Amino acid sequence: MTEQRWWHRAVVYQIYPSSFMDANGDGMGDLPGIIERLDHLADLGITVIWLSPIFASPMDDNGYDISDYQAIAPQFGTLDDLDRLIAEADRRGIKIILDLVVNHSSDEHPWFVDAKSSKDSDYRDFYIWREPAADGGPPSELTSYFSGSMWEFDEASGEYYFHQFSKKQPDLNWDNPAVPEAVHTMMNWWLDRGVAGFRMDVLDLLGKDVDNQQLTAGPKLHDRIHTMNRATYGPRDALTVGETWSVTPETAPLYCAPERDEISMVFQFEHISLTFGEPEDGAPNGGKWNAKPVDPLKLKQVLAKWQHALAGGRGWNSLFWNNHDLPRAVSEFGDDSEHRIRSAKMLATILHGQQGTPYIYQGEEIGMTNVRFDAIEDYRDIETLNFYNEYGDLGWTHAQRMAAIYRNGRDNARTPMQWSATDNGGFSTGTPWLTVNPNYRDINVAADRADPDGIFQHYQKLIQLRKDHDVLVYGRFTLLLEDHPTVFAYERELNGERWLVLGSFSAERTQVHLPAHWQNTLCQCLIHNTSARGALGQTLDLAPYEAFMLRAEGNAE
Ligand code: GLC
Repeated sequence: MTEQRWWHRAVVYQIYPSSFMDANGDGMGDLPGIIERLDHLADLGITVIWLSPIFASPMDDNGYDISDYQAIAPQFGTLDDLDRLIAEADRRGIKIILDLVVNHSSDEHPWFVDAKSSKDSDYRDFYIWREPAADGGPPSELTSYFSGSMWEFDEASGEYYFHQFSKKQPDLNWDNPAVPEAVHTMMNWWLDRGVAGFRMDVLDLLGKDVDNQQLTAGPKLHDRIHTMNRATYGPRDALTVGETWSVTPETAPLYCAPERDEISMVFQFEHISLTFGEPEDGAPNGGKWNAKPVDPLKLKQVLAKWQHALAGGRGWNSLFWNNHDLPRAVSEFGDDSEHRIRSAKMLATILHGQQGTPYIYQGEEIGMTNVRFDAIEDYRDIETLNFYNEYGDLGWTHAQRMAAIYRNGRDNARTPMQWSATDNGGFSTGTPWLTVNPNYRDINVAADRADPDGIFQHYQKLIQLRKDHDVLVYGRFTLLLEDHPTVFAYERELNGERWLVLGSFSAERTQVHLPAHWQNTLCQCLIHNTSARGALGQTLDLAPYEAFMLRAEGNAE
């Protein structure tokens, strides 16, 4: 059985601070802007905010390159603003979790500046330095996630330093006990300030063994997470979620089984990776730039597998369709044109009906879509820009590269929040750091919330259902219609209460035959995106992207 924890019932909302709300007109979102918009989130009903990095940073990777872990980036505000945000959120029953980016720091962090200044620096060992290979080249052939080598030569010392992301993001050396010690002190400082936990950036890289080229899920990983838990958030009942691209249903319990005292839950990416194609030879992150259409059959099989893998107290799932690194949910898994509203609600229904903690990425609650800028100059993301250059060298045409960016570029998720139909979507009175998606005139918070058929109110209802009905939090999950190619249907059951959750991933009308125990059942319809359903017959005729949740009330005959 699952021992109950507060974060089982949480619904998390992710804010990408530079793109959420700009209060001072400098074109960049900020903490006062978030405070201004807290009522939007309170109305939605979410109970936790995950703030992407807000710390001092040269912004080479939009804040995932931190130069001071205990200072706020001036463009986002001050520590006072953060304290105010924590207090104002708390007044609305919302907790704040921060992004913990400790696989690497910025090269402008004083630790690295000192480390680089001399081989004898006290901080030299905070990072990973190696002698050149015999030919003077990099110590090994590893390719960075953001293109180029994972090794950068440092003229002054004649050694290379290691960086899995950009060269402005040197990897911290977790083999040096002083590193975890400094990180734990910093984490406790934030916990004492009132944050409720952490989203842990690339957590599965912390155990890396660089010399044996084992970078993900290295040998010391779990020991390190366990030690961190005991030294910091463990005794404080925090919510911790690890970003773990390498996790499998078999390894997930190592992170999140309660008795291991590591973290609350993992982000797994198997359903996301289903859309990745074959990588170009030797090219970084190849699969995502060769994306293929989503196969709904595989998608539901993967998600159901994860539901089963972590059921019964073996762990806990995080449920998400998108984040700041991924395309917009409705563009990737739904239909962002004709059926935008209905397919966005379908995706929400199918996600929030599963067992786990749901995560909503800013703008998802109004069905924001991917963006298509004509010029590469309009993009800001380092990964996207490096991809464009590097794949140009590999012979990809401009059109091919732009098509890949339209599909999977990270700026899809990062265009500013669309609040209203006024200039810049009401995000900023200045010039936004990244152009607002031109569809803001039609798709925006004001318009969606004014629409009785809007997406926001559907999310609101889903969140309320989860608060009111334990069956959605703790009920047993069973996949139905297992082999149906486009309909994702499952049952949740708790103490004899049975719910049917169903979503069609098809733009066509679709007929399904329900399993015997759902045929001729009288139901109460708790939520739908088309029209309410009551008594079920033997077959169901589904509208395009139809979705609903039904509770069995008795026999219809
Ligand atoms: C994670 C973040 C991503 C960042 C990378 C390096 O994957 O989500 O945005 O670029 O780590 O910190």
